[in-house]
This record gives sequence, structure tokens and C-alpha cells, in this order.
Amino acid sequence: MTSMTERHKKLEKNITLLGVFAFLAVTVGGIVEIAPLFWIDNTIEKVEGMRPYTPLEQAGRDIYVREGCYVCHSQMIRPFRDEVERYGHYSLAAESMYDHPFQWGSERTGPDLARVGNRYSDSWHVQHLTDPQSVVPESVMPKFGFLAQNDLEVHDIAANLTALRHVGVPYTDKDIQMAAADLKAQADPDADAGDLLQRYPKAQIRDFDGNPKRLTEMDALVAYLQMLGTLVDVNGASAQEELASEHSR
Ligand code: HEC
Repeated sequence: MTSMTERHKKLEKNITLLGVFAFLAVTVGGIVEIAPLFWIDNTIEKVEGMRPYTPLEQAGRDIYVREGCYVCHSQMIRPFRDEVERYGHYSLAAESMYDHPFQWGSERTGPDLARVGNRYSDSWHVQHLTDPQSVVPESVMPKFGFLAQNDLEVHDIAANLTALRHVGVPYTDKDIQMAAADLKAQADPDADAGDLLQRYPKAQIRDFDGNPKRLTEMDALVAYLQMLGTLVDVNGASAQEELASEHSR
């Protein structure tokens, strides 16, 4: 016992020796923590229903990022009771797996938007984005009415999807080939959307901004907002999760 403390004293008094041992401890600990990540295929649990965003949703997402919506809105519901009661089922990692960059955010001047899809009508969104204070008088949200005046101009949507494919979003060759047509068809109730719905299940196909004659930035942004949180059947997924953990217990 004494020899053990004696030996430890030696270690504490010799700065070089202490440095060497501290380095070894941190190295071994670091390897144990980090190395397994190189051998497991995926740190994200696969969840049914998650799919790449349609070209229109992706264009809307780009506007969301451009306008800095993330400065006031998070997209991550944490697994706490107050959050789940207010916003719905907590966010799953898979739900942001196709976000480059992710939009979790760290500031909530406004509410979390991870599950805002289908909660309001399109016209509510258009009205709210155009003049938030007309809907919520005390709102500090800026007005974004100009989005309804701007034609949606995406220089090369196929190139955007190709870039996303390079970072792991599984767009098919057909998705990329059809990108420009899909972009227009999703917001045009008169267009033939082809097999858009087969390639992008649950895609909402309609005019979003209340003006079917034009394809505007408002169409894209509202299409994006209406999709948020609607792809994965979270209540089904969590029921399965619970079942699985019960079986493994
Ligand atoms: C300066 C901060 C700020 C910015 C920037 C901002 N918002 Fe908001 N947003 C708010 C606040 C505060 C509320 C809550 C009051 C209200 O509904 O207007 C809100 C509410 C919302 C809601 C309603 C959410 C709900 O569940 O009721 C949506 C949708 C929304 N914002 C979308 C956006 C989008 C899209 C953008 C970017 C184009 C944006 N916001 C930019 C502050 C902001």
C-alpha cells in the first residue's frame, strides 16, 4: 500500500513522467472512444419514410437558409416533456440525414419548426410570411412578402442535386435528369407530375402561394415548410422502437 502511494508520489513530482503517463491515458481513452466509429456502418438508425427532398422542397430549403430563418428557428425537438407536448415527437437523427448543412439551430426566438408541416394551411403560411403581425400581433418576425414577388430562379437544379449526391444524398440518375421538370410540376396543379410521387413518396403537389400562374420563391418555401416533419411516421417508429427495446430487455 505504502509502496503504491510512494510510487505515485514519484509520478506526481516528475513532470516529464506525469506528462508521458497523461498522454498515454488520453491516447488510449481517445482510441477506445473514436475507433469503433470507423467500423460501424452507420451511426444513424434507419427510419422508414425518410427520403431526399424534392427539387422544389430543396429550393425552398435553400431560401430558408438564404433568408436566415435558422437565426430564429430551430429544427430539433429535444426529448423533454415540455418540448414534446408543444412540438410533437422528439426529432430522430434520420430526419435530418439529408440536410446539408443541418438546420438544428441553437436559438429559438420563434418556435421550433421541425414538425410544422401540415399544421397550418398554405394560405396561413403565405399570410404569416407576408405580414407576421397580422396573424400574431406581438410577433418580432420580419416580413417576407417579397418572396411572392420573386420568380423562383434556380440556376441549375440538376447540378444542386448532383452536388448533394456527392455528399451522400441518394438521388437517382432519373431524379437528376428530371430535376428541372419536377421543380415546376410540383407547384403546378395542371402539369403532369409524371412519376414524381413514386420517386418522392408523400410529396405534396399543388400550387402553394395562391397564384397558380407563377412559380415563385414563396411556392418553394411553403412547399418546404409543409413537408417538415411529415415524412417519417414518428409515432409508428417510436412504437417500434419501444417494442424493440422491450424485446432486448
Ligand atoms: C427575428 C426572428 C425571426 C426570423 C428571422 C424568422 N422568424 Fe419565424 N417566427 C419568429 C417568431 C417570434 C415567431 C412566433 C410568432 C409568430 O408566429 O409570428 C415565428 C413564427 C414562425 C412560424 C409559425 C410557427 C408555429 O409553429 O406557429 C413559422 C412557420 C415561421 N416563423 C417561419 C419562418 C421562416 C420560414 C423564416 C425565414 C423566411 C422565419 N420564420 C424567420 C421569429 C422569426
